[in-house]
Amino acid sequence: MKAQGDDFHGTDRFVIRRRLGTGGMGAVYEAYDEERHETVALKTLRWHDPSAIYRLKKEFRVLSDIAHANLASLYELVADGDDWFYTMELVDGVEFFAYVRPEPRSQSETRAPPDVPRLRAALAQLIKGVVALHRAGIVHRDLKPSNVLVTPAGRVVILDFGLADVVAPPSPLQTREEGLWGTVAYMSPEQVEGQRSPASDWYAVGVMLYEALTGRLPFQGSALRVLADKGRQDPPRSSELVPELPEDLVTLCGDLMARDPAARPEDGEILRRTGVLEHTIFRHRGFRSGSHVLRAWRIRDRQECADRSFRRRRRARSRGSGAEGSLL
Ligand SMILES: Nc1ncnc2c1ncn2[C@@H]1O[C@H](COP(=O)(O)OP(=O)(O)O)[C@@H](O)[C@H]1O
Ligand SMILES: [Mg+2]
Repeated sequence: MKAQGDDFHGTDRFVIRRRLGTGGMGAVYEAYDEERHETVALKTLRWHDPSAIYRLKKEFRVLSDIAHANLASLYELVADGDDWFYTMELVDGVEFFAYVRPEPRSQSETRAPPDVPRLRAALAQLIKGVVALHRAGIVHRDLKPSNVLVTPAGRVVILDFGLADVVAPPSPLQTREEGLWGTVAYMSPEQVEGQRSPASDWYAVGVMLYEALTGRLPFQGSALRVLADKGRQDPPRSSELVPELPEDLVTLCGDLMARDPAARPEDGEILRRTGVLEHTIFRHRGFRSGSHVLRAWRIRDRQECADRSFRRRRRARSRGSGAEGSLL
């Protein structure tokens, strides 16, 4: 494994403008793509052993095919000598928490409610994005505020989906000094033990909702303490910390954070309970087998083929019997 320094200087094609931040995988820059003539976000990959690169290539192909308003578009995976990086849509936005609670973050208990209409609008989009991922057969694995940005126009954009395990070191416990430690707060109890499923993503959404409702994280203290506590006890209900929160959001939050993943509501129920309508568009290739979308899409494709061949036959028939014979 080779650690790439945090001093990426760009390439002929990608001109670095500024650094946006550094996370567990590497650094993120704002860059100008001279070929596409647009500004992009460029993420360098600090960890790149050959097997990680192999998995990344496969995963990237699948992920870059997904197009959804609430998921950041992935553009290209690039090797520049030994250095690997990928480009994606540059999102001009603030973190989810800052958007729903514009006042400074407080470690102490705050009694102020969030901006509820803003929270509902942002939560609906977060849910849509997560459902779109799940329907493509992808678990995000690292939902947290720095991976959910909200633009000034109020568009919620999820970042870093599906790549957490591919390019990051295997355990968050190994990366304490490198910033991934923050992820622990949003990680489900079963994920700490290496299991993950769509339900783990919903747990993370539950923590983000809790933080949005109350202004603080559900579990306090050191990372080790948080890890231990979340596996053995429930946090105080959000409505115990802040009075007059909307009951539906308080209940949803508690249900999403159920310790047993099987007890958490699933995608369909979450959409129903929040009245969210979901719509995903996929690009032309790379569907994951087994997803509902894939099956729905194939059925539609078959239908379209049948329609097309019916139309062809009808045209041929109207042109004359010779052509008809060859088509039937
Ligand atoms: N596509 C993007 N557009 C704008 N900002 C981004 C983008 N990707 C990442 N960032 C920002 O760059 C910073 C570092 O990101 P990242 O390496 O993913 O670390 P982490 O998400 O673990 O904080 C974060 O503050 C994140 O919000
Ligand atoms: Mg990130």
